[in-house]
Amino acid sequence: MKKKPIIIGIESSCDDTGVSIIQNRNVLSNIIIHQNIHKKYGGVVPELASRLHDKNIVKAVQEAILTAKINPYQIDAVSFTLGPGLIGSLLVGASFAKSFSMGLGIPLLTVNHIQAHILVHFIKNANINNSYPTFPFLGLVISGGHTQIIKVSDFFQMKLLGSTLDNSIGEILDKIAIILGFYYPGGPMIEYYSKNGNEKKFTFSKPTVNGLDFSFSGFKSNVLQFIKNKLKDNTFFIKQNISDICASIEKTIAEILLEKVQKAVLKTGIYTIVLAGGVSANHKIRKTFMSFGTKDNRYKIFIPKKEYTTDNGAMIAITGLMKYKRNLFDSIHVTPYAKFKMF
Ligand code: KG4
Ligand code: ZN
Repeated sequence: MKKKPIIIGIESSCDDTGVSIIQNRNVLSNIIIHQNIHKKYGGVVPELASRLHDKNIVKAVQEAILTAKINPYQIDAVSFTLGPGLIGSLLVGASFAKSFSMGLGIPLLTVNHIQAHILVHFIKNANINNSYPTFPFLGLVISGGHTQIIKVSDFFQMKLLGSTLDNSIGEILDKIAIILGFYYPGGPMIEYYSKNGNEKKFTFSKPTVNGLDFSFSGFKSNVLQFIKNKLKDNTFFIKQNISDICASIEKTIAEILLEKVQKAVLKTGIYTIVLAGGVSANHKIRKTFMSFGTKDNRYKIFIPKKEYTTDNGAMIAITGLMKYKRNLFDSIHVTPYAKFKMF
C-alpha cells in the first residue's frame, strides 16, 4: 500500500453532485455542482435530482481531476456514497463509481453518508480548530435528512444514542422557510434574514422528549400556528417581522440542540462534541456551541468549516481513505440503500 494514497470520493445522495480528490488527508480538489431546479418546487424532486446527477457527474469528475492536477491513473481507489439517500440519485453515483473502478482497475470503497459527515473532521484543517478530534467523542449530525447524536469510539466504531422521532432539523427549517415565503433550501435563507433580528421577540415551544431522541414536529406546528394567527390580524406580519421571526426560530433550535447534547454529555461523560451536516453551517448554532465551549473548559467543540458542512465529495473521500487503510474494500455487486442503517 502506498504511503500517500490518492482517493476519489463521489457523493450523490441528494441534490448535490460532489466529487473530491484527496491525497492522504489533504484535499486536492472538491467540486460541487448544485441543482437549482428544486428551488421552485419547495424541496428536492427525486426524479429531477437523479437526472441532473446523470448529466453532471462526468463534468464534476473531469473538473475534480483537472483541479487536482493529477493523472487519473494515479488514483488508488474510488469511494462513493452507498446510502442513505434518494435511491435514484445514489444509483447514479454508484454506477459511475463502479465503472470508474473497473475501467482503471482500482478498488471500490462504499461509504455511509452520515458516517462521512462526521469523519470529514479528519481532513486536514477541515474544522475551525484546525485539529482532529480525539476519540471518544459525541457527533451531532444535523442535516436535511437526519438529526442524530452518535457516540464515536473510533473511525468505524459508532453507536447511535439518539435520533429524531419525526422530522429532521433541516426538513423543519426548509418547511418553515416556505411558509415565510422563501425558496428551497430554506436554512440559509432563515440565517440570512435573522442577521439583525431580535431573537427574544418571539417564543416558540420546545419539545419534551425523554432521553436523547429529538422531535421537531410540535415545534414546527407551533411556529406555523403562530404565524397563521398573526396573519389573521395583520396580513403584513411576516414582512414586518421577518428578521425577528427568523432570529427567534434559530435561537430556539440552537437551544434545543445544545440542551440535548448536554444531556448526552451527562449520560456518557464525553465532553468532546463534533458538529456535522448542512445545518451546522448555521451561524447561530455555531456561535451557541462555541460560546458554550469557551465558558466551560471541560468541553472541546469541533465545528466544520462551511465548505465541509453541506454535502461534499471530500467527506466521502476521507471516509474511503480510512477504509482503504484498513483494506475494507467492497465488491461491485453492492447496491445502494435509501434508509439509515447503523454503520
Ligand atoms: O447535509 P446536507 O447538505 O444534506 C443532507 O444530508 O441532508 O444538509 C442540507 C440541509 C438543508 O435542510 C438546508 O436548509 C440546511 O442543511 N442548511 C442550513 C444552512 N445551510 C444549509 N440550515 C441552516 N443554516 C444554514 N446556513
Ligand atoms: Zn448530508
